[in-house]
Amino acid sequence: MAREFTSVGVVGLGTMGAGIVEVFARNGIDVVAVEISAAAVERGRATLTGSTDRAVAKGKLAEADRDALLSRVDFQVGLDALHSVDLVVEAVPEHLDLKQRIFAELDRVCKPEAILATNTSSLSVTEISVATTRPNQVIGIHFFNPAPVMKLVEVVRTVVTSADVVADVEALCERLGKVDVTINDRAGFIANALLFGYLNHAVSMFEARYATREDIDAAMKLGCGLPMGPLALMDLIGLDTAYEILDTMYRRGGRDRRHAPVPLIKQMVTAGLLGRKSGRGFYTYERPGSPKVVPDEHTPVATGAALADGARAIAKVGVVGSGTMATGIIEVFAKAGYEVISVTRGAEKSAKVCETVKTSLNKGVVRGKLSEADRDAALGRVTWSATLEHLADVDLVVEAVVEELSVKKALFASLDEICKPGVVLATTTSSLPVIDVAMATQRPADVVGLHFFNPAPIMPLVEIVQTIRTSTETTATARAVCAALGKTGVVCGDRSGFIVNALLFPYLNDAVKMLEASYSTADDIDHAMKLGCGYPMGPFELLDVVGLDVSLAIQRELYLELREPGFAPAPLLEHLVTAGYLGRKSGRGFRDHTNR
Ligand SMILES: NC(=O)c1ccc[n+]([C@@H]2O[C@H](COP(=O)([O-])OP(=O)(O)OC[C@H]3O[C@@H](n4cnc5c(N)ncnc54)[C@H](O)[C@@H]3O)[C@@H](O)[C@H]2O)c1
Repeated sequence: MAREFTSVGVVGLGTMGAGIVEVFARNGIDVVAVEISAAAVERGRATLTGSTDRAVAKGKLAEADRDALLSRVDFQVGLDALHSVDLVVEAVPEHLDLKQRIFAELDRVCKPEAILATNTSSLSVTEISVATTRPNQVIGIHFFNPAPVMKLVEVVRTVVTSADVVADVEALCERLGKVDVTINDRAGFIANALLFGYLNHAVSMFEARYATREDIDAAMKLGCGLPMGPLALMDLIGLDTAYEILDTMYRRGGRDRRHAPVPLIKQMVTAGLLGRKSGRGFYTYERPGSPKVVPDEHTPVATGAALADGARAIAKVGVVGSGTMATGIIEVFAKAGYEVISVTRGAEKSAKVCETVKTSLNKGVVRGKLSEADRDAALGRVTWSATLEHLADVDLVVEAVVEELSVKKALFASLDEICKPGVVLATTTSSLPVIDVAMATQRPADVVGLHFFNPAPIMPLVEIVQTIRTSTETTATARAVCAALGKTGVVCGDRSGFIVNALLFPYLNDAVKMLEASYSTADDIDHAMKLGCGYPMGPFELLDVVGLDVSLAIQRELYLELREPGFAPAPLLEHLVTAGYLGRKSGRGFRDHTNR
């Protein structure tokens, strides 16, 4: 029989604590909600009422249920109020000494059988537990932000947590409607261990002015389907909390440089820019605690101004190549009203590309997304050719041939001879340095990367890669073209992986390393990222879709260019590729797909 929890305590009513109170009270459990001062209690109460009022306004909670929920919460100052609760969840700031002090006090105040839980994200639950005389009743219950919304709870057992305490807490999570993964006490557990290296890396990109905050966030949302970008997420987590988590993970997690907090984070914390809770972090919010972003001095002026930056007029576009990307790109430009010249290496290839474009457009007609007239008009705009010289008078060339530097360089050298002055020459490379391609021409200022995502007609993102020689007019032209295609163009520097792959693949590689270390299972890791962070797919699902060979190649490139030891490909990934387990395409990757 699992233990009954009729009354629980929550200590600290900040970003997490107030949400945790709501989770318990919503599920019929009485809560004693404790803060350090009357003012802090009022802040916590305001957060709770704000959140439940929003739920009522959205029709997700009946008014009567809200009132019942609020009536279950007893707000108090000081830990003494917790004398008769069955369980306490501590959610005070991420400092070991503070948490140890609180646990020693809870041990004195609470009844002997009470379970004492910490919501720590990165500190050692074991070290916290030894501040009490009942370490076997101390456990980690790690909720995710925002606690009322995110389904995941990481239950962290130490070597001394008793099995029945673990079982009772697991049953409680189920009663709260949460999905739990139970794991051992390791820095960052599953989700944060995989998340924070990525967040820190995104901040370093921003700090180095590699891309703007809007572009970094848009890239990860639109390129990977994440619910929010990394900098917006840092603001939600709180920069002070994020700093402490990174710092602890760095010290506890083997001094991985990728967890050493980027200096900018500390500077922002010192300046009081803590994120949403203080009204300003990477973005500016309507008021402290508000989720609504308001424009500030860094907000880019609306597009349309792009033409004023000297963007060139583009009417005629050449697309070189006959693969998946070239085919999709032809369709995208033709549908957007551009005149397109497709150049392949022969009439046979052209016929095949033409057929594929037709099939795809027809699908649009069947789905009611495109009229027959628009389909015919789009097809009518494309000229099929096998002669590069036909690109003499286009305004823009998009190259999407095989991913080999020598081939691309030779092509760009030819385009340089053929194309008129003022043409913008774009490469869709996803891994080669754009500057190498640019220097194969006599006009590197006109060369830019236009990294479309697959499938090009569907994916809304294009990375615009500017080299150190790309002119502002060329970048402005690329931006204007992306806008005209209905895509979001994000501008970044010419570094391996651009924005999306540079942030995504090290995270995937870390997940493989975590599996390799037997810390958790592929299923639990996938669950943790989907339910704790709202990712559309877990890392192993995604790796199997992308292909393990492709992922390994990208990870190797990143490692070779940046020489970051933490980017070294996971040996398990190498072994799986060697064994021919490439993911869905070969029937087996991290999972067996043959019978699915
Ligand atoms: N922010 C997140 O996204 C997130 C997610 C999961 C877990 N966590 C963890 O949750 C914990 C709390 O983080 P947060 O982001 O909510 O911090 P926060 O700074 O938003 O809130 C902490 C609250 O604790 C209160 N407090 C401080 N000392 C206290 C005391 N002695 N007694 C009672 N209350 C006290 C503060 O007044 C404040 O309201 C940390 O361990 C953090 O790592 C945070």
